[in-house]
Amino acid sequence: MGGRWAIAGIDLHVDVAGTRVSRSLEEALRAAVVDGRLAVGTRLPSSRTLAADLGISRNSVAQAYEQLTAEGWLDARVGAGTWVRERAAPPTGRVPAPAATRPDLDLRAGVPDASAFPRQAWAAAARRVLARASVDALGYTDPRGVPALRQHMAAYLARARGVRASAADVFVGHGFGDLLALVCRALRARGARLVAVEEYGHELHRRIVRAHGLQTVTLAIDDDGADVSRLEEAGADAVLLTPAHQFPTGVPLSAERRVRLVRWAERADAIVVEDDYDGEFRFDRRAVGALQALAPERVLYAGTASKALAPAVGLAWAVAPPSLVPALVEARETTGGGQDAVNQLTLAEFVGGHDYDRHVRRLRHLYRSRREAVEAAVADRLPRCRVTGLPAGLHCLVELPGGVREGDVVVEAARRGLALEGLGAFAEGTVAPETSSARRPPSVVVGYGAPRPHRFGEALAALVASVDAASGRR
Ligand SMILES: Cc1ncc(COP(=O)(O)O)c(C=O)c1O
Repeated sequence: MGGRWAIAGIDLHVDVAGTRVSRSLEEALRAAVVDGRLAVGTRLPSSRTLAADLGISRNSVAQAYEQLTAEGWLDARVGAGTWVRERAAPPTGRVPAPAATRPDLDLRAGVPDASAFPRQAWAAAARRVLARASVDALGYTDPRGVPALRQHMAAYLARARGVRASAADVFVGHGFGDLLALVCRALRARGARLVAVEEYGHELHRRIVRAHGLQTVTLAIDDDGADVSRLEEAGADAVLLTPAHQFPTGVPLSAERRVRLVRWAERADAIVVEDDYDGEFRFDRRAVGALQALAPERVLYAGTASKALAPAVGLAWAVAPPSLVPALVEARETTGGGQDAVNQLTLAEFVGGHDYDRHVRRLRHLYRSRREAVEAAVADRLPRCRVTGLPAGLHCLVELPGGVREGDVVVEAARRGLALEGLGAFAEGTVAPETSSARRPPSVVVGYGAPRPHRFGEALAALVASVDAASGRR
């Protein structure tokens, strides 16, 4: 008998009949790790929980886990659990599976409500651009990006985020990941070897850093944000941070640490990469300006169109320290990257005509009301939980009551067709799980941006039911 099961939020086919139960589970899990459906750092359910879910013996699960641990796919620590292990490089010869289809209900962090994309205003901007663009504008352009966009972004970022920007230092890329890859190449060119990353963060970004031959060192996150005091002794050459709204814990970097960070960067001739992925969305009127303004010579500021517009726009921008610009240009040229000038001109028109500001204001209202709905649902229906993280952006943390495990909530959510991740899924794999998870209470990361408006209430109800069910499991 075979069946499909949701494990740690992903869909697996496991043959639970006959003598091959353990082997079948092992194969399903291995395939999911190899093709990335089970991301590095994902915590697997305990063998007891998984055995109960699949209706098989605990021994079969333990055997599968043991085999995969021996092969280096999983990491297990007695009493702490089993994780998908960090690897230096993905195994060769396998083509990653295409991105998973959108789950029925979605509360994953980092996913915006693409149904809010301003189709008409964008289409109008694109039409105007195509009607007016000179023939020259349709030819090869500057490796930093289309000049009109760089000018409008410099003005917008100065106005909206306090960035000290001149168009000459603005760099346009195909998303933050693309810009980060260029920055890594530029860092290598100036001799960098070690990049500090936050204890929690976007797993892909850490992989991009390492894929460029840079080593990483981890900064713990506490209530003041990243512990930047480690940078000096670690001998880091650069640091990648989310200072306005740490991803995904939601803690801002304190004023004292900002100053300390910048002083270190000046002393150490180091570069700070400021990932301002959702800086436009602060709901309590206490928006903190960009860190970059404290030290434009040291801090590379980066933002993205993925949250305020849509990932499909595929554009992000950086304001680079002037001394890094030549190395970035070299990195762009030697990776063969061209420019999608028509798309960039459309964004320039959209920003220059203040459509972007208007749209961001509308979205701020939308996401603020969703955040308030999460808070109200937790207060009413999950009084033993707590919402944490700044009132900002597209996600928050829901801290679980004592004894309730992240993995159990995620499994319960998957049963209800809800994609949801625990905080542990964002933890840096090279940090011992006991140090990282012990520092912050078990929580689920609730991305309230992801659902379509008409599914938001349902997604919230599924979240509440999942936490309730996981609480009852103890
Ligand atoms: C921490 C963080 N930085 C940056 C981004 C933006 O990435 P991109 O521009 O590649 O969509 C995201 C998107 O999820 C993110 O979570």
